[in-house]
Amino acid sequence: MPTNKVGVLTGGGDCPGLNAVIRAVVRRAQAYDMEVLGIRNGWLGLVEGDVEPLTSFSVIGILPKGGTILGTSRVNPLRSTEDRQRLLTNVKRFGLDALIVAGGEGTLSCARELHQAGLPLVGVPKTIDNDLRGTDYTFGFDTAVNIVREAIDRLHTTAESHHRVMVVEVMGRRVGWIATFGGMAGGADLILIPEKPYHLDEMCRVLESRRRRGRSFSIVVVAEGAAPAGEPLPQHVGEGASSGVGYRVAEQIGGRMGVETRVTVLGHIQRGGSPTAFDRILATRFGIRAVDLVREEKFGLMVGLHGTRIGTVTLEEATAGPKAMDLDQFAEAEVFFG
Ligand code: F6P
Repeated sequence: MPTNKVGVLTGGGDCPGLNAVIRAVVRRAQAYDMEVLGIRNGWLGLVEGDVEPLTSFSVIGILPKGGTILGTSRVNPLRSTEDRQRLLTNVKRFGLDALIVAGGEGTLSCARELHQAGLPLVGVPKTIDNDLRGTDYTFGFDTAVNIVREAIDRLHTTAESHHRVMVVEVMGRRVGWIATFGGMAGGADLILIPEKPYHLDEMCRVLESRRRRGRSFSIVVVAEGAAPAGEPLPQHVGEGASSGVGYRVAEQIGGRMGVETRVTVLGHIQRGGSPTAFDRILATRFGIRAVDLVREEKFGLMVGLHGTRIGTVTLEEATAGPKAMDLDQFAEAEVFFG
């Protein structure tokens, strides 16, 4: 049976580029005479029946906007049998032939389970953290990296004037992609990531050797999930995006080296604002391909960037644990430590 009506939802933490996906879905669907129903606030909208028809008029001017016009939530409808039933009933009630689900690992894990239960759907990878398997990059990541890069550029001048160690804590509770790319682009002296436990002695040795060779200040980038050797990774507790690791590192460096330190926690600034050109294009290509898959009735897949092409992987592959920072690539950043 051809798809006449497709639902689109955005779930999990928001991310620059989500509106580009929604716009692309609507415009591509229009070309195939498919109706699009926007589902508000992630899975919650399907549980509560909170939806709105999307036309090309609804998506005018949204390409450069951050966030998501549909709203989002971290609601998992599979935690309660009642919610799950309400969701499935609403899919029928709204006459949805298929769903396009833009989300990170949490949202796409629900998508995987719902697909296994018979729901025709396609996933679109979204997260600033770039920690989803099955795609070289997720959209939102490039925007976040540019925000970190700009912050480091700005911190350089004040760090240099005061001869301080500036610690910049960035997002990435499980992986160090943002820290590595942002730190590399900004010329950081040290980058700490969850994939590589840090040693205080080694850190101070690197920073001191730089100082001896004439650089009187330092920039240290710390992913929120970084931890010292021998300790478990910090737990992400409650709201907000700081584990406090930035302050801890600054205190340790200051205490050991006897230098002044300052901490900047970039937090949700990394997730806000307009997407970069790269993210707009990637998100647009993902949206187009997702509709094409729906039209071809190829479900249970996630679109992904493979080299320069938009390919697909199964939702099972995409959600088989976080994609850790590639340590060979991290070694390239390490060339500039010390
Ligand atoms: O989207 C992932 C992420 O950006 C993490 O890096 C961060 O820890 C988390 O979201 C914080 O999001 P929230 O405050 O919305 O829970």
